[in-house]
Amino acid sequence: MDKPEIETIYSAEDIKQRIAELAVEIAQEKFEDLVVVPILKGSFIFAADLIRGLYEAGVSPEIDFLSLASYRGTESTGNVEILRDISAIVENRDVLLIDDILESGHTLAFAKDLIAARGANRVCTCVLLEKPTRRVVDVEADFLAYRCPDVFVVGYGMDLDHRFRELPFVGRIVQ
Ligand code: IMP
Ligand code: MG
Repeated sequence: MDKPEIETIYSAEDIKQRIAELAVEIAQEKFEDLVVVPILKGSFIFAADLIRGLYEAGVSPEIDFLSLASYRGTESTGNVEILRDISAIVENRDVLLIDDILESGHTLAFAKDLIAARGANRVCTCVLLEKPTRRVVDVEADFLAYRCPDVFVVGYGMDLDHRFRELPFVGRIVQ
């Protein structure tokens, strides 16, 4: 398979530092009986690092995974599907959703509504990247690592047609 050139936008070192800051910010919220829910697949590396950052900051949540799909190639569709649901009971508990990118907002809004409808006390969201110009649904992240340029990014868990998730940094493909 051909190896395209990938330009780094956020290096592994940058991300590591930013996540430590974010974990402290989240710890200051004093969540009660917290369930952390990474939205798969794109957030798996971010979530793994953030959850270990939360441990360092003194937060010990339950962790469960929600697998959603809305993307086909490089275009988001408004149709969000549950591929795998959480099994945790969220009623009367605080929930922190973790996602890789907030773009149109369809994915995060869907996940927030789903968890809120199950009776969670607080539903907060943490995303690695936000593309501010692409929002279709009115939803904001409570915790954000970076406001990113309006380009298609890969790496650090994020893919283009199932490739590049393994990169330890966030970058863009140079054509
Ligand atoms: P939204 O539903 O449009 O907000 O899209 C959010 C989802 O689309 C994210 O969870 C990502 O998985 C995916 N996504 C959006 N932009 C990008 C990108 O630049 N690269 C890779 N995945 C993306
Ligand atoms: Mg995703």
